[in-house]
Amino acid sequence: MSLTMEERNITPSEAYPGDKTTTKAAEPELLKVEITGDRYTSKEFKDQEWTHMWRRVWMIAGMADDCAEPGDFFTCDLGHEPLLFVRGKDGVNGFYNICQHRGAKLVLQEKGMMDSFSCIYHGWKYGLEGELIEAQDRDDFERDPCEHVRLADFRTEIFAGFVWYCLDDDAPGLDEFLGDMKEQLESWQLNDGFRVEHFTVELPCNWKVVIDNFQEGYHIRTLHPQLMETVNENKESVQYDLYDGGHSRMILLGCDPSPNFKPQNTLPDSITHMLTKWDIDPEQYKDKHGEIRPALQQTKRDKSAERGKDFSHLSDAQLTDNFLYDLFPSCALSVYPEGEYVWLLRSRPHPDDPEKCIFDYWTIAKFPEGEDTLYWEHMDMTLTRDAEIEHKQFKWGEEPISFGIDQDVDIAPIVQQGMRSHGFKKAILCNQERRVQFLHDNIDRYIKGDLGR
Ligand code: FES
Ligand SMILES: [Fe+2]
Repeated sequence: MSLTMEERNITPSEAYPGDKTTTKAAEPELLKVEITGDRYTSKEFKDQEWTHMWRRVWMIAGMADDCAEPGDFFTCDLGHEPLLFVRGKDGVNGFYNICQHRGAKLVLQEKGMMDSFSCIYHGWKYGLEGELIEAQDRDDFERDPCEHVRLADFRTEIFAGFVWYCLDDDAPGLDEFLGDMKEQLESWQLNDGFRVEHFTVELPCNWKVVIDNFQEGYHIRTLHPQLMETVNENKESVQYDLYDGGHSRMILLGCDPSPNFKPQNTLPDSITHMLTKWDIDPEQYKDKHGEIRPALQQTKRDKSAERGKDFSHLSDAQLTDNFLYDLFPSCALSVYPEGEYVWLLRSRPHPDDPEKCIFDYWTIAKFPEGEDTLYWEHMDMTLTRDAEIEHKQFKWGEEPISFGIDQDVDIAPIVQQGMRSHGFKKAILCNQERRVQFLHDNIDRYIKGDLGR
């Protein structure tokens, strides 16, 4: 018999009692700071965020894979800071990408392999550990610079296939920063991820407009109506978890057409595709939407070996449902069922304009154990491990990113327009949007020095 609407209006923690991967976190007390427009437009607020927050949080710099061999390096920016990551003798070193002589930017390429880095201005040359190994006319200096000059460095770590960094040496370490998130990310075994899409887009909005959006599922019905075909976005069913440190999580039951999806007695094509892919006859589930998810989980378990897949480390929820982790302050990791793909959706602060930001969108795919090729269904192409992925960089409006992402990104400049208006007093949030409140509360806690110390 098909499940009633009431029976389908359950959260993941209720759907999987005893499953650690969906345990509901205790609800914290919210500070409820007012989310006013000046938080998105004020230079002063931006400066406070920089001094007290951005320098003290752990950020993902890039893929560990891009820094695998000694001399492998890549560069990126956080706000106005140019940064350099290079594989040295004991791991990945993080340096400010700035020559110590007169401050020129040191490495101008985005990535590559070198055994040393030479400044194009006067030729000072640095080794992989940041030591100055050559300088023109060394004897012309009061003290030989090669005796004492090094690149300015900061901490890095490798975790979950990413290179992480923190600019402030006094801030807590990565484990403490991630807290509960560490075990949750580990449960997916993401280490073997390979970046198959890489976009960096300058957006005409404050960084928080972008990440506010990834905190809530309230906009799914209006901005992404197509998602109602496959995920249960009903407010009774979406689970929001708020964690110490400002991180949070949203879980949406997947392979589970939303009760808001009409009509109820047909199957959307996307679900039909998911079922036939696993040799399940879709006909029998036409009017039993609530039973698709458990049936698919069971079939995936039963047939994993014959499909060459190992799901032994994953819970049932991880086989079908959608987990969106928001790592404080601005990195959303959306993990597809089976951990097959991860979307990294992140905003970084613009170097100087509070009304602009840098948006990163990566797709990270997991290669099957021991295989060097991967069929990427989303783009209908076969990837190889050593394929060079183009890093697409442009300003918003010049090119599309991808369908689902553009729906989120295109709303951001529209929201930013309201942030300066006399007509906007403050955000009015519903319960489903409490992660937005939590994000802003924690930004203020960093600024006041109550977090990240
Ligand atoms: S600024 Fe780099 S060598 Fe002079
Ligand atoms: Fe969205």
